[in-house]
Amino acid sequence: MTRVTLRPLTEADRSTVHKILSAPEVAQWWGDPGEETDGLLAKEEDHVYAIEYEGQTVGVIQGWEETARRYRHAGIDLAVHPGHYGLGLGSEAIRILAQRLFDQGHHRITIDPAAANVRAIHVYEKLGFRRVGLLRDYEQGLDGTWHDGLLMDLLKGELR
Ligand SMILES: CC(C)(COP(=O)(O)OP(=O)(O)OC[C@H]1O[C@@H](n2cnc3c(N)ncnc32)[C@H](O)[C@@H]1OP(=O)(O)O)[C@@H](O)C(=O)NCCC(=O)NCCS
Repeated sequence: MTRVTLRPLTEADRSTVHKILSAPEVAQWWGDPGEETDGLLAKEEDHVYAIEYEGQTVGVIQGWEETARRYRHAGIDLAVHPGHYGLGLGSEAIRILAQRLFDQGHHRITIDPAAANVRAIHVYEKLGFRRVGLLRDYEQGLDGTWHDGLLMDLLKGELR
């Protein structure tokens, strides 16, 4: 049974989103909470949702689309508040959004965690994502240093 629902994020969610992205366990991987909150709320054409569980917003998830015909695919990114880690909520949210993107005609979904983000990589592999390759010095951390990312992808029919 699915316990999670996704609803479009609105300006009224600003302080909740900021709180989620400010948790050190999240900021470590997402970057500056203020900038990231602004970014999520500015993305009108993307699919940006609040992850709802038992009437509470416990996380955020976004899907973006590459629309160039020959390279058409979608990507996903998410954050769950650490107070709700380990309940399977992140996995459920990805399943819902990935299925929606496949239903909209996408055949491939990518996700690009930091190479050191073993928790996220475990979750994505459990859902069927495969490791494509290392993105060297891909992302800048809060301390200004560059670190590697891991490109992962999921083809239609592989979602578990
Ligand atoms: C990654 C994230 C979304 C996962 O959400 P979640 O709701 O905690 O995930 P789930 O409860 O569905 O699954 C957690 C899994 O990770 C495993 N896990 C926990 N800590 C782990 C670790 N250090 N190494 C490997 N696996 C780990 C759990 O055992 C569980 O797997 P299982 O179901 O096989 O037992 C969440 O941890 C998060 O928001 N992290 C911070 C932000 C982030 O990293 N976002 C992703 C950027 S690409």
